Amino acid sequence: MKWKKIGRILVLDHYPEDLKKILDKFDIDSIVKINEIFGQIREPKIELLYGETTETIHKENGCFYNLDLSKIMWSKGNTNERMRISKLVNDNETVLDMFAGIGYFSIPIAIHSNPKKVIAIEINPNSFNYLKKNIILNKVHNKINPILGDCKDLDRNLLVDRVIMGYIKTTHHYLNSAISVLNDGGIIHYHETVPDKLINTRPINRIKKIAKNKEVKLLNIETIKKYAPGVSHVVLDVQINES
Ligand SMILES: C[S@@+](CC[C@H](N)C(=O)[O-])C[C@H]1O[C@@H](n2cnc3c(N)ncnc32)[C@H](O)[C@@H]1O
Repeated sequence: MKWKKIGRILVLDHYPEDLKKILDKFDIDSIVKINEIFGQIREPKIELLYGETTETIHKENGCFYNLDLSKIMWSKGNTNERMRISKLVNDNETVLDMFAGIGYFSIPIAIHSNPKKVIAIEINPNSFNYLKKNIILNKVHNKINPILGDCKDLDRNLLVDRVIMGYIKTTHHYLNSAISVLNDGGIIHYHETVPDKLINTRPINRIKKIAKNKEVKLLNIETIKKYAPGVSHVVLDVQINES
């Protein structure tokens, strides 16, 4: 049986054979089955199999995330990456979280590092509402500035030290926006789902193409998880210097 527990909700990818056995085993409020996650704003289609609520508070890496699983996705496979990023941020940095969701990266950064500011942009009003709730829940309102909107339309006067591009499938369409607001020597964490044999070429070449004559220094490539047979979700840490 494939399952994950998010807060007090058990998430399954199939109908349970023996509901009583599950309820004896897990201390939970609800059981949901996620059928698909679709679209740009990653909306889930779920069925509530047991219980009355799809809302919960999930705790991870010392952070609290309030979310409603009927409206918002949670990727368990990104747990280590959320923690890794939160420890890379240097004191007093300005960080841009382009696909902030409910604060997947912004919250741990604000809790485990000491940034000057995290600018967290989210396009989905449902996720944005939970982002605002999670900022209050984690008491990091002095560190995170949430913005409802499209991260393609960034304020041209914005300048940041680090950009998190925690999104897959069309992330490369946003590279131009990310690079345009980056300080000299700034760092981008660029996510991509890529065929395994192209891991060392396609993502970095996409960044170099958009960076044009700037210097792109590859600091690290991390495989976050297997996405599909022969395809991985990877993240590249790159530093961009004016040359
Ligand atoms: C769900 S997160 C990805 C998963 C996350 N990295 C994690 O750790 O689980 C991606 C978010 O980006 C948002 N998004 C998509 N396109 C966007 C855009 N153009 N501007 C701002 N947010 C966007 C989606 O609504 C979604 O909430």
